Amino acid sequence: MILKYRKGNPIPTESTVLNINISENIEFFNKHLSNNNMLINIDENTYVYGLGGSNRGINKVGYKYTSYCSDDPVHTEDKVSLYAAHNFFVLKNEKEVYGIFIDSPAKITYDIGFTDINEFRISIETDSYDIYYISGNSIIEIVREYRKLVGKSYLAPKWAFGYGQSRWGYMNESDIENVLKGHNENGIPLDMIYLDIDYMKDFKDFTINEERFPNFSQFVSKMKKEEIHLIPIIDAGVKIEKDYDVYEQGIENNYFCFDKENKPFVAAVWPGQVHFPDFLNKDARAWFGNKYKFLMDKGIDGFWNDMNEPAIFYTRAGIDNMFKTVDKYRNKENIGVYELWEMKDSFMAMNNSDKDYSSFYHNYNGQILNHKDVHNLYGYNMTRAAGEQINLISPDKRVLLFSRSSFIGMHRYGGIWTGDNFSWWSHILLSLQMMPGLNMSGFMYIGSDIGGFSGNTSEDLMMRWLQFAIFTPLMRNHSAIGTKDQELYRFKNIDKLRNIVEVRYRLLPYLYSEYMKSILNDDMYFKPLSFVYPEDEMAYNIEDQLIIGDEIMIAPVYKANSKGRFVYIPETMKAIKFTSSATYEEKIYEKGNYFIDLNLHEFVIFIRQNRAIPFSNIAKRVENVDFNNFEFLSFGKSTYEYYNDNGLDKEISEKNIVKYEI
Ligand code: GLC
Repeated sequence: MILKYRKGNPIPTESTVLNINISENIEFFNKHLSNNNMLINIDENTYVYGLGGSNRGINKVGYKYTSYCSDDPVHTEDKVSLYAAHNFFVLKNEKEVYGIFIDSPAKITYDIGFTDINEFRISIETDSYDIYYISGNSIIEIVREYRKLVGKSYLAPKWAFGYGQSRWGYMNESDIENVLKGHNENGIPLDMIYLDIDYMKDFKDFTINEERFPNFSQFVSKMKKEEIHLIPIIDAGVKIEKDYDVYEQGIENNYFCFDKENKPFVAAVWPGQVHFPDFLNKDARAWFGNKYKFLMDKGIDGFWNDMNEPAIFYTRAGIDNMFKTVDKYRNKENIGVYELWEMKDSFMAMNNSDKDYSSFYHNYNGQILNHKDVHNLYGYNMTRAAGEQINLISPDKRVLLFSRSSFIGMHRYGGIWTGDNFSWWSHILLSLQMMPGLNMSGFMYIGSDIGGFSGNTSEDLMMRWLQFAIFTPLMRNHSAIGTKDQELYRFKNIDKLRNIVEVRYRLLPYLYSEYMKSILNDDMYFKPLSFVYPEDEMAYNIEDQLIIGDEIMIAPVYKANSKGRFVYIPETMKAIKFTSSATYEEKIYEKGNYFIDLNLHEFVIFIRQNRAIPFSNIAKRVENVDFNNFEFLSFGKSTYEYYNDNGLDKEISEKNIVKYEI
């Protein structure tokens, strides 16, 4: 059951699709909410799950999280805000279980036993908001109920479940061709190559650098013949440049965010000075979204939206402040350490500053709103702009779309990647821990930069990372310019890396089926163990294993120099240890704790009793995976409900499920 409480006159977010009547007198809020603050007593048996794309563990207790979409590339443990603002969580203690969804674009802080170990404090930085209280018998039931409220998740095309190679720094056709060659010559499966900002002319959205890509359409179709999809990036900021059509049209129609003098707001991102399209203005949204047609007409069928928090490198005000600070000390002979820090801070303060975010405005259905009050809606509405128009441009076929910044509601238009991580072992674990929270919020097409975006990766890190990432719907190797090359063919044991990706392709009928069913049934693709085994106390301690669908458990190795790992087996399961893509060893484990030996190239899945999963052929492209004929990996007499379709239809239906008895 869902109860809705409203305070004041909230800014509509369009996050929800159901109309729930407002209740005046909700016991839960009477008890816990006052002056825009919520206080919930917690103890050592309280578990808090959710908050979507937020930092730290699966169970959120013990830290503080602020919903404020932030372009922060250094995801260390202390960070309170990452790229997303997903205000849905479920709390479970010995007495009760319930879900809370705060529908507000405001900054919201969840201090979950951080300041006071027995208090969960929520502060909402506005006087107007909607909050939903969602009850149910189990966490899964509550998640389903909430997901009905926010609507069906975005459907990615089946081909987007292939392996993708990306790198900031692929400059031209020949760089892309070499990537394809590297994969083909080494037999590494591949379905997508990503185009980062260098395909554009001077980082201008919806342009092509013709020196680097002299005939883009032809190049796209040449790649299509090889069954490779090129996926270009689109950035939020539009370069200020006379005669650049996107800029000119934006100016002419007042489609850009504006400052207090009603002039288009100026900030600097990759292209230098830009204006930000006012994605909260529905006409601007339709206009910008329609621009994707420029690339779709050239054969493009997938996009990633970036820098849409929006990221700001600097504004004139920030630069002026920095120079003023520096000038203050320019002629000083002996600069003190605090003065030095003040100068340093003035540089740092230029990036994504709250001051800048407070100095521009949106026209939201005729209402003029300060950006800081709707900041969290920006990336969401950029991807919505794209999604809404792409649906019109391509009414019959799914198009790949995912975003960096997001808010609940955006899950209906696209997936997300978790942004700029590092080549750190801890980031394999962070990626795993983010997945269930994202699924809870409704984001199903998700993944992280494999191998790590910043920093230099190593072969063992890449190998272990892949062994987890073969299970994420979005499987993309991506890295930053200036870092060590990390395409799989750059390493020594290419055959071993290839084997891992090949297992992904063999599992695709299963992974795709689970993805589709999770959307159809408002279910979770990745579940923490405690959601599946709520009676098992040990399950609540497990922060590094996940259940996929209803059938398997994964327990990836995420530590350096490990020849295996401890695994908690919550019920009798059959381990399938992959020693290559064609060979595996089976072993049955009773409930308990075990150390599972896993050499660097080996990884394991655990099949639950009376469950089976389809396991197909080895293929180099999704197109060549046989989605109709496969064997089953099974444990005992089992049934499997298999979802399959042509991977492009926009209709999702139970009719596409076939029941197999194994
Ligand atoms: C941002 C993105 C990253 C991209 C880079 C250059 O940092 O998060 O994925 O490679 O910009 O476009």
